[in-house]
Amino acid sequence: MTVRAVVRGVGHYLPKRVVPNSEFEASLDTSDEWIRTRTGIERRHFAADDETTSDLAVHAARAALADAGLTADDIDAIILATSTADLTFPSAATMVQSELGMTKGFAFDVQAVCAGFVYAMANANALIVSGQASRVLVIGAETFSRILDFTDRATCVLFGDGAGAVVLEAAEGKGTSADRGILATDLNSDGSHRDLLYVDGGVSTTGTAGVVRMQGPELFKHAVVKLAQTATTSLKKAGLGEQDLDWIVPHQANIRIIAGTAKKLGLSMDHVIVTLQEHGNTSAASIPLALSVGKSEGKFKPGQILLMEAIGGGLAWGSVVLRW
Ligand code: ACO
Repeated sequence: MTVRAVVRGVGHYLPKRVVPNSEFEASLDTSDEWIRTRTGIERRHFAADDETTSDLAVHAARAALADAGLTADDIDAIILATSTADLTFPSAATMVQSELGMTKGFAFDVQAVCAGFVYAMANANALIVSGQASRVLVIGAETFSRILDFTDRATCVLFGDGAGAVVLEAAEGKGTSADRGILATDLNSDGSHRDLLYVDGGVSTTGTAGVVRMQGPELFKHAVVKLAQTATTSLKKAGLGEQDLDWIVPHQANIRIIAGTAKKLGLSMDHVIVTLQEHGNTSAASIPLALSVGKSEGKFKPGQILLMEAIGGGLAWGSVVLRW
């Protein structure tokens, strides 16, 4: 028997405050038109001053548990992908665990910036197929508004806050590509590109949180190539090809990157979930946010093949192929 990790529930949460592109026009030399046409973003949500990453994560986790028809007692582990944890330690995942009233199992954070959710899914899949957990709550949650330089128009207009969550559950499979659940994952990083996207502060350097610094155009070039490469690799590992893809649920950084990757994979944009117009780049939260929206709109049919792909600071990138 082969054990597969199947999606049992999905949920998301966006903070109440909506910031339209026009709000940046007052303080920066930018325009709604520039932001829309160069990125696809129309608005983003920012967390309230007293709202933390783990608060957003708890809302998303509760929504995913409700969607799955489960409670926190049914969960063995929590993996939370974030680069904006509440504190340096303990992990935001343990805060979520406590808030959900979960007293057993284990919880930890994964930090791979925008690729964090893909990394977290790959880790959750490994825990499930190796028998260490039967149900894992996988969360992506960020408060990027806390690490933005609001004088830098090239970065601050791109990011937003939010959270998304997935309940993965062990299920029996046959070990073929016809199984439901995660069929393959592919993870990559190349630290020699770390200067393309980083935060200029940290515990063992400045002692401050720092703000995002990015070489956008250079990153853009890496993104389309590396995302298409990882997609092809994980499809191949799954015993599938590009022609088998039904949906791409991509990291939501830039509509031109999303469209460029879909084109390379030969998929039309009506098979791609696009939500970035509503919330900008929410880093590790963006894939589960898009997955949750796609599911709530009834887009995914049982048996369809979904590809999740992301790239971010590190560089770190990867993909997950699953059968819905
Ligand atoms: N408003 C108006 N003008 C702007 C703005 C703005 N907000 N930002 C930049 N510009 C200007 C630039 O200064 C430049 O002006 P110049 O020609 O006079 O020098 C011009 O617009 C073009 O700038 P580019 O940076 O070349 O614009 P580009 O079309 O490449 O878009 C962007 C920039 C949106 C950042 C794009 O490069 C991008 O999306 N890059 C990838 C980002 C990404 O994928 N991140 C993913 C990972 S995120 C993570 O891991 C946390």
